[in-house]
Formats: sequence, structure tokens, C-alpha cells
Amino acid sequence: MKQTTAVLLGRRPEGIKVAEALTLGTIDLPELTPGTVLVRNQYMSVDPSTRGRMDPGEKQYTTNFEIGGPLDGSAIGVVVESASDLLPVGATVRHRMGWREYAVVDDKAGTICDLQKAPAVSWLSSMGQTGFTAYAGLLPVGKLTPGESVFVTGAGGAVGSMAGQFARLLGASKVVGSAGGEEKCAWLKDECGFDEVIDYRTADVRAALGEAFPDGIDLFFDNVGGWQMVHALHNMTIGGRISMCGAVSNFGSQEQPSLSELIEVVLRRVTLRGFIVRDYEDLRPEFEARVSGWLASGELVDRATVFEGIENAGAGLEGLLNGANLGKALIRLSE
Ligand SMILES: NC(=O)c1ccc[n+]([C@@H]2O[C@H](COP(=O)([O-])OP(=O)(O)OC[C@H]3O[C@@H](n4cnc5c(N)ncnc54)[C@H](OP(=O)(O)O)[C@@H]3O)[C@@H](O)[C@H]2O)c1
Repeated sequence: MKQTTAVLLGRRPEGIKVAEALTLGTIDLPELTPGTVLVRNQYMSVDPSTRGRMDPGEKQYTTNFEIGGPLDGSAIGVVVESASDLLPVGATVRHRMGWREYAVVDDKAGTICDLQKAPAVSWLSSMGQTGFTAYAGLLPVGKLTPGESVFVTGAGGAVGSMAGQFARLLGASKVVGSAGGEEKCAWLKDECGFDEVIDYRTADVRAALGEAFPDGIDLFFDNVGGWQMVHALHNMTIGGRISMCGAVSNFGSQEQPSLSELIEVVLRRVTLRGFIVRDYEDLRPEFEARVSGWLASGELVDRATVFEGIENAGAGLEGLLNGANLGKALIRLSE
């Protein structure tokens, strides 16, 4: 029987101190059966949802991790043994069996990634679920039209940096982001083409938004929730839209605003719409065509913070939650 090293949930963490709740262990790999392949994982994605799945609460759209069991999540790797007509040996495949060095993958759950269109890393970031989340949140959910103004929270992270850049490339009149720290803010403005960036750790966010959007925010793409969401609500145009992607501030220990703040939704006739990216799969081909074009033309900046080795998986997740990472967070598992 083959085995592999995997990241296991040692115990349920509290807050953002997640690394110490994870352990490395060895798990058995099932024998290949027809329609499955053995993949040597090269990179795995680090996502806020991984933290959410360590809690016991109901998630509606996914399953929680078991104590003592392996984590999973998006990964990309090379097929090294195949019992599949769809995924041959040597193919680069994206799948959901990350957080382990080797994985046995069902061929219907793996997608071949064309490395001519984008490098392997981009298939987990701009061309992967990260970019697709930004795309779905802006277009089918946010209904962005050219000439509108857009505000993005968590802009220095994976989804946020894509959402702001996509909004610009889709013709937004003004794109403003918020992020923590000078380095992230400078990167977003100087390299990613955001018109303005607010450092939410030092600025008066509500006042800064008022100055940045004298006519109000048409579309607010929210990754963070909490007080930043309230500050944005106070700066929405009448009839503006909020595309609610996530609420990463929920994992921290800061005080959260009261629900009574939502009265601004009424006063400003705002449409607030949550979404789960997997409901928009029919848009995947159009998304990949557009984003690969933007990558090829150099109009899109796709940057990742890469941690080396499975032993640094917990540090990668903790860096995502405490804001240390820039752009997409990835763990490199092999060459
Ligand atoms: N709806 C969907 O289908 C879907 C799919 C994928 C992801 N998501 C959501 O999208 C959001 C972004 O995910 P991601 O993968 O792009 O993660 P990420 O942005 O790469 O990482 C999270 C970022 O949030 C910021 N942050 C952390 N704690 C914060 C706090 N308390 N207040 C303000 N900002 C904070 C950090 O940046 P700073 O340095 O700026 O603090 C960090 O870079 C998450 O909420 C995630 O759950 C939703």
C-alpha cells in the first residue's frame, strides 16, 4: 500500500492561531481503480475557507474537517500513474485533493491545465477559483457595467487583487481598494493599477471613502465584512449594489458592528447579494478566455506568496489570516 505525507487537523483552533492546531502525518493512498490517477502535487492553494472548515459549525456549501483527519483543498500536480482515459501520465491537473504530497484523484474531479495558456501557479490564482470568484462577484452577481465606480475590501489578497484589476479591465470608471500596510497599498496602486488604496489599519475609512467617491460607490465587492462593510454602506450610491464574497474579519478577535447598521441598506435602497462561486460554472470558459488574454497581454498582475514545503502549510494559512501574505497564498510541494 502506498502512503503520503498530509496535513492533519490536530484540534479545532481558536481565532487565527491555526498553525499550532495542525500536524503532519502519514495517510494511506487507495489503490488505483479504473477512472482514477495518482498525482504528485506541485502547489496547493491556501484559502480562508480552510480556516472556516476547521470549525464545527454548519457551512452549507462544503464539509468540515474531522479531528485527526487530513485537510483538503485546491491543488495542482502532475499525473504519475494513470488508470484513466481522460488524464494521461504527464498531464498537469487541477483537483481538490491538496494538503497532501500525493493524491489519488477521480478523473471526473480533475481538470487538465493548459500550461501554454497560463503557468501552473496562475491556474490556482488568476485562472483558478480565486480569479473565478472575483469574476463571478463582479459580473453575474455585481452586474458591473463600464463607467461604474467600484470599492474592493481585502484588496491585497488573492480574490481582492483580482477583483480590482478585473473591474479596471472591464471598464470601471474608478477602482479603490482597502488593504493593511504600506507595502500592500503601494503594490496595488503602483503595479495593479488601483486608482486609490486605503490603509484600513491607519485611515479613517469612512471619511477616506467619502473623499474617494464623492458621487458614491456603485458596486462594493466585500471580502472582509465587519466595520469596513459599514463604512462602505455609508458611502454607497442610492440603489448601489454589494457583492458579498466573504467576511474574513469574522476570524479575528476585533469587535464586530451591530446588525442595526444595516439600516443603511434600506435608506440607500442598496442590493446586497451573497454568492458561492460554484453556482456560476457555466461562465468558466468565457472567464478563462478573458483572463488568459489579459495575462498574455501583460495587463493583469498575478502575484503569489509561496511557502516552501508541506511543513509550512500552517504558516501559510496563518499568514493569510493575519495579513502577512501578498496576493495569492500557495504552498510549493514539489518541483
Ligand atoms: N463566495 C465565494 O464563493 C468565495 C470563494 C473564495 C473566497 N471567498 C472569500 O473571499 C475572501 C478573500 O479570500 P482570499 O482567498 O482572497 O483570501 P486573501 O484575501 O488572500 O486573504 C485574506 C485577506 O484578508 C485580509 N484580512 C484578514 N483579516 C482581516 C480583518 N480582520 N480585517 C480586514 N482585512 C482582513 C488580509 O489582508 P490585510 O493585510 O489587508 O488585512 C488578507 O490578505 C474571503 O472572505 C473568502 O472567504 C469567497
